Amino acid sequence: MAQKPRRSQKSYGKLDRDGFIHRSWMKGTGLPDDVFDGRPVIGVCNTWSELVTCQVHLRDLAEHVKRGVWEAGGVPIEFPAMSLPETQMRPTAMLFRNLLAMEVEESIRANPLDGVVLLGGCDKTTPGQLMGAASVDLPAMVVSSGPMLNGRFQGQAIGSGTDVWRFSEAVRAGEMTLADFLRAESGMSRSHGTCNTMGTASTMASLVEALGLSLPHNAALPGVDARRKTLAHLTGRRIVDLVRAEVRLSQILTRQAFENAILTHAAIGGSTNAVVHLLALAGRVGVPLSLEDFDRLGREVPLLVNLMPSGKHLMEEFCYAGGVPAVLKALEGLLRRDALTVVGHTQGEIADRAECYDREVIGTLEQPIGPSSGVWVLRGNLCPDGAILKPSAATPSLLTHRGRAVVFEDIEDYKARIDDPALPVDASSVLVLKGCGPKGYPGMPEVGNMALPRKLLAQGVRDMVRISDARMSGTAYGTVILHVSPEAEAGGPLALVREGDEIAFDGPNRRLDLLVDEAELARRREEWQAARAPSDFTRGWYKLYIDTVLQADKGCDLDFLVGKSSSDVTRESH
Ligand code: FES
Repeated sequence: MAQKPRRSQKSYGKLDRDGFIHRSWMKGTGLPDDVFDGRPVIGVCNTWSELVTCQVHLRDLAEHVKRGVWEAGGVPIEFPAMSLPETQMRPTAMLFRNLLAMEVEESIRANPLDGVVLLGGCDKTTPGQLMGAASVDLPAMVVSSGPMLNGRFQGQAIGSGTDVWRFSEAVRAGEMTLADFLRAESGMSRSHGTCNTMGTASTMASLVEALGLSLPHNAALPGVDARRKTLAHLTGRRIVDLVRAEVRLSQILTRQAFENAILTHAAIGGSTNAVVHLLALAGRVGVPLSLEDFDRLGREVPLLVNLMPSGKHLMEEFCYAGGVPAVLKALEGLLRRDALTVVGHTQGEIADRAECYDREVIGTLEQPIGPSSGVWVLRGNLCPDGAILKPSAATPSLLTHRGRAVVFEDIEDYKARIDDPALPVDASSVLVLKGCGPKGYPGMPEVGNMALPRKLLAQGVRDMVRISDARMSGTAYGTVILHVSPEAEAGGPLALVREGDEIAFDGPNRRLDLLVDEAELARRREEWQAARAPSDFTRGWYKLYIDTVLQADKGCDLDFLVGKSSSDVTRESH
């Protein structure tokens, strides 16, 4: 039976004026006549930029993808997408994840592509690219940047982000000199690649593998490792096969795939940011997924990976120990074995072939690295639509706690008062930060792991219960309750908390409550006004984002971007 013409042939296969225009302006890039004969045209969507080390090597990796595409009989065409450098963008890269998703979606749909390889790595690029590609639903694969080499400072391994938080607290507590603090900068980021801890970038790259969207070992091979180039080359070959077999992204991104991602997330002690990203991605492909799925599925899984911030090693050790395939194997009977992957094998088959080479780094269900991990999803009158906490990064003794609120109305208020010697705070207090949700900041920045008051650090306090509508870096740690929904700026109960209110946190029973009676809360609600005037942002991306962004329990997508709209474009450009 004759195969139906590929999508690219609707542009390149025409013998009229339109076909002339589509081909001629591509021949101007140096392509010969015969590449327009109907072979698969593969987009290489590249978030390369010099704005951060995470993606600075992606042009080189793209060349290896292209080799593989040519070799398999396809035509690779590289195109750019915005890079979202996590450590550079203000007020937060998260504000722009959905903008990247829109750019990727429309770039794929508008151009004559049959499949796409997504090249990215920094925290928001992976979910942004995937969300955009999912709403078009062509065959797609991911090649991640790969992590940096381990950091080194004064003879010790140091981890991206995690040791920034630790050193910063040490300086504030008078335990580290400022000169040493500044010297550590050069030792922390020693090569190109993404953060070398199990932060958000490594988490999302690991979940890409667990979702079945990349070749095995995509997450952990260091950015500088030659085998990452090989992986890129083999991905180029494989995407051509996927186009020929017409395997769309939605055939890989099934409910089973998301369950494998959540199980893996728990096993690796993954970043809390993955919760919003997976919810948003599931929304694009129409897979039902809720906050409770993370708690319910993750509850069965102990911590299996000994990496910062939940453990002590870094991504290099994870790679050498066997990486994500070894984790899938360690999940044993929990793994959804039948989930299909872009490799052509099921996840069960990939797990069967995996080996673990270091049980100090990757444990087993019988001998895990730590107790049940995952994400706790809290409910209560302080967070009617949910809040989350990462127990593996928290202090066990604080997982059940009652304390008086010390309230900061926004991040400026927090910065102005946190080190004030007169701040009415002690080790049992609960730090509450408002105005840092999707609409409030805007963009829901990673400020939920508030640094502790200097006077308590001096007393030796190293953790406190902290509550906010913000996110926190995947590299951060502490008893930090995040993503409180609805956020304060949207009128959630968080907005009503006042200095000295008692707050009850009951982690084992997943409760978070403000111990103020209903009549008083109703009175406060009558007085409440949003902190931001509607006139504060009147144009551009900020306005579109604030007007349409969903709350954290829905993944922070824009309301009109949920779902997909196929790859069809019926009208010509001339
Ligand atoms: Fe890009 Fe951490 S800053 S991965």
